[in-house]
Parts: sequence; C-alpha cells; structure tokens
Amino acid sequence: MSTANTLQLNEFQQHCQQRVDRRLGAALDAEIASATLLEAMRYACLGGGKRIRPVLTYGSALAVGGDLPAADNAAAAIELIHSYSLVHDDLPAMDDDDLRRGKPTLHKAFDEATAILVGDALQPLAFQILSTDPITENDALAANNRLAMVQLLSQAAGATGMVGGQSLDFEAVGVKLNIQQLEQMHSLKTGALIRCAVLLGGMSCESASDSQMSALAIYADNIGLAFQVQDDILDVIGDTSQLGKPQGSDSDKNKPTYVSLLGLDEAKALANSLSDKAIAALKEFPASADRLRELAAFVVSRLH
Ligand code: IPE
Ligand code: IPE
Ligand code: MG
Ligand code: MG
Ligand code: MG
Repeated sequence: MSTANTLQLNEFQQHCQQRVDRRLGAALDAEIASATLLEAMRYACLGGGKRIRPVLTYGSALAVGGDLPAADNAAAAIELIHSYSLVHDDLPAMDDDDLRRGKPTLHKAFDEATAILVGDALQPLAFQILSTDPITENDALAANNRLAMVQLLSQAAGATGMVGGQSLDFEAVGVKLNIQQLEQMHSLKTGALIRCAVLLGGMSCESASDSQMSALAIYADNIGLAFQVQDDILDVIGDTSQLGKPQGSDSDKNKPTYVSLLGLDEAKALANSLSDKAIAALKEFPASADRLRELAAFVVSRLH
C-alpha cells in the first residue's frame, strides 16, 4: 500500500494538490507565441481551486491498487477541462459572474475574447497530456489504455457530458424543472466530469478489474450528483469570501437548483443519502479505498 494511504484526508488532499499543480505548472510553461494567452491560461488553472477532481483521480488509483505517478496526467487533464469550464461558465453570456477562486473572473482580469480563447486552448492541452505517457518508475501505460482514457474524457467533457449539461442549464433559466430534469442537468454539467475523474484514476492502473471499475462508476455517479447538490446548497448558505465565488448567484439569475425545488433541508438530506450510496458502492474494497470513502463525506460537508 502506498505511503499516501497513511495520511489524514487533508494531508492527502494537499499532497495531491501539489502533485497536480506540478504537472499543470510544467504543462503551462510552454513556448506560446501569445504571452497574454499563456498568462491567462496560467491565471485560469494555477493558484486556486480545491482540485477535488484530481484528488478523486488519485484516490481512485489507490483504491484499485495503483500508484500516484501513473495518475498524474489524468489528474492534470481533468483539472484542465474543469478550469476551462469555469472560465466559460462565468462569461457574461452564461452565468455572468465576477469572482472565481477568490479572484476576478478571467474575463474581468483580461477580456471576453481572451476568456473564450483560454477555454479553446485548455481543452486540447488536456487531451495532449492525457495521450502522453506518464513518467513513472513502472512500465509505461499501454497505448490502448491511454486511448480509452482519451475517449472517456472526450465523452464526459462534450455534448454527451459537461457541455450538454451546461446547455440544459442555459435553457433552464427561469424555468421550473421537475426533479428528473434537474437530476439530468446536474448529472451532466457536473457529474460527468467527476465520474470521469474517478474512472480515469482506476484506468491508470492496468490491473484494475471490471468489477472494481463497475463499483467505482456507481460511487462516482453518486458523488458527482452530490457535489452539485452541495454546490446549490452553498449558493444559499455559503459565504462569498469563503466560497471564493459570489453567493446567491443562482437565485439572482433565477436558476433552478435542488434548493429551489426541494428546499434546503430536503436538499441536504439528498446530498447525504447520495454520499452514503457512494460509500456503500465501495463495500468490496479494502482499506485502499478509504480516501474515496472520506472524500464522499467531504463532498457533502464542505463549506467551499
Ligand atoms: C465548481 O467546482 C463548479 C461546479 C461544477 C459545481 P469546484 O467547487 O470544484 O470549483 P474549484 O475547482 O474548487 O474552484
Ligand atoms: C457549473 O455549475 C458547472 C460547470 C460545468 C462549470 P455552476 O454554474 O453552478 O458552478 P459555479 O457555482 O458557478 O461554480
Ligand atoms: Mg453555471
Ligand atoms: Mg456558475
Ligand atoms: Mg453553482
């Protein structure tokens, strides 16, 4: 078992954050003709954010008996897609928010054209990294495994995943969705990338079994949805300075959320029950999955 397994959750999170930040820092240290674009890409990705998706990728690699270096590229790739999604999510044409990760949103710090281009640039960078062989002490990750990871991330990021969910979110402004429609929207706009983060971690270990991967998928679907339910809750009960993004943005923009549909108490109960289901999906795993168990609890107790 890796030494990472003996750490407390917050130490493990810090360890993972440092790992992925190193990988992102290296990827964003390239020779790019436009110095402004590079500066803006770094602004979007470095110096902020919980890195929960990379932490899940690493946690899931450990759960199936893998190691952290083999998961570095997957962790960085998922964070690049997530960071781009935030830059576009904040644009005036979308949520029109001014604060992100405790700093002015990218279109405020730079301009809208740069924010669009940053998203355009971060997406292919994610796939470039994911298709590259990770630097590990062990054998290289087989090319067919890397290909499967690229396919999974492209499905999770695009119209069948996150972007599809963002489109539903955009269409839902001012509309009263039913619970199934809201679940579909949240599962796509947020759940898809979280599910992918977990599965990529498992896939970075070539000995992961089909039954382990199926259990990880159930875990991931539940925490993916729970994560966005908690995000909706924090939009109501959170604090702007702690969140690092504007509290009350959803209600200001008349967005359907779990709190607007179910009320605060029911939304909290749902988040907890999704977290419990995620943990239950890991019942066959030994202590190697403890990080994932702890992360399922963290997702619904977090305050930012
Ligand atoms: C915010 O995600 C957007 C959602 C999908 C809910 P995070 O809460 O993970 O944001 P960062 O990365 O920590 O800033
Ligand atoms: C974000 O949902 C989902 C994304 C794909 C970025 P939100 O719009 O609720 O995220 P926040 O609250 O702005 O972080
Ligand atoms: Mg949004
Ligand atoms: Mg938003
Ligand atoms: Mg939100």
